[in-house]
Amino acid sequence: MQHRTLGPDLSVCALGLGCMGMSEFYGPHDDQESLAVLRRAVDLGIDFFDTADMYGPHHNEELIGRFLADSGAPIKIATKAGIVRKPGEYARTIDNSPAYLRRACEDSLKRLRIERIDLYYIHRVERERPIEETMETLAGLKREGKIAHIGLCEVSAETLRRAHAVHPVTAVQSEYSLWTRDVEAEILPTCRALGVGFVAYSPLGRGFLTGRFQAGSSFEEGDFRASLPRFAPDNAAINEALVEEVRALAAAKGCTPAQLALAWLLGQGDDIVPIPGTKRCRYLEENVAATSLTVSASESAALDHALSTLPVSGERYTAEGMKGVNA
Ligand SMILES: NC(=O)c1ccc[n+]([C@@H]2O[C@H](COP(=O)([O-])OP(=O)(O)OC[C@H]3O[C@@H](n4cnc5c(N)ncnc54)[C@H](OP(=O)(O)O)[C@@H]3O)[C@@H](O)[C@H]2O)c1
Repeated sequence: MQHRTLGPDLSVCALGLGCMGMSEFYGPHDDQESLAVLRRAVDLGIDFFDTADMYGPHHNEELIGRFLADSGAPIKIATKAGIVRKPGEYARTIDNSPAYLRRACEDSLKRLRIERIDLYYIHRVERERPIEETMETLAGLKREGKIAHIGLCEVSAETLRRAHAVHPVTAVQSEYSLWTRDVEAEILPTCRALGVGFVAYSPLGRGFLTGRFQAGSSFEEGDFRASLPRFAPDNAAINEALVEEVRALAAAKGCTPAQLALAWLLGQGDDIVPIPGTKRCRYLEENVAATSLTVSASESAALDHALSTLPVSGERYTAEGMKGVNA
């Protein structure tokens, strides 16, 4: 697996592993199967796992902590704090206060069973609180050796600039995929101007771009995609046209739609590290194989044409979820 560098010096595999679905959001999960995926990921050269304290809540970090303790694998761990949830409830609040973040960091270290978090993100920015204060808190955690690098999720270009002026930001993590390209307008150019890396979450459009879902698809109990506007039947029926294009281009290339979606993203710049999520070894293997594909100029042009002529229908989050992005 090739490596890429986030910010000045965080070297990670070109394609990381998103672990969220191993705990919730995308239907049932099985810890034994998830641990097998983590083991297989290491075999395949993945050394960058993405988690958050609120996945589960806490179950995801505990699962990874168990894997790290048992395997001793040298994985770079990215985790996040700032979204507060009660177990069993989806409702959330945002807290970036120094006391909350300090406590959250200590708790994550314990659950992950590590001494230092490689990349610590603010999961969502608290709009009412100056980002400068939050960066001072994170810089303090770094000085104390509890975290090695600082990241921010779903921030606006302006917030990133203000944050970076207080302490260098190593990576921004936001949604980026064939059907979510808004970061290309402002945030990606700002990352590039500042030398900040970019971690692309939901690079498979939460599974939609793989062709697994149709307008009539039903979701399993607890699958939060059922609440997302883009997956609502009317919108999904429109969005299927884009997937059909991706499917046709992938077939012509001799790869799967998921692989084309990931190869396209990897081709958007060496500063981009996609973190596709899966709880199944077969998808993991398929996704990792995308790192050896290159999207040609003509394939890229065909994708651009499809994306410009087939508008995506529906927001990527609910109205409540959209309040947390571009903050
Ligand atoms: N910072 C944030 O706010 C934020 C938000 C969302 C996600 N994330 C992070 O980003 C990671 C990735 O995003 P994501 O999991 O939301 O979305 P994603 O990677 O776009 O898609 C995950 C979905 O695609 C399915 N899938 C994966 N590979 C596949 C393949 N080759 N063929 C068919 N289906 C496939 C998975 O199925 P199975 O579940 O059945 O394996 C899962 O349902 C998460 O795990 C999480 O760590 C961060």
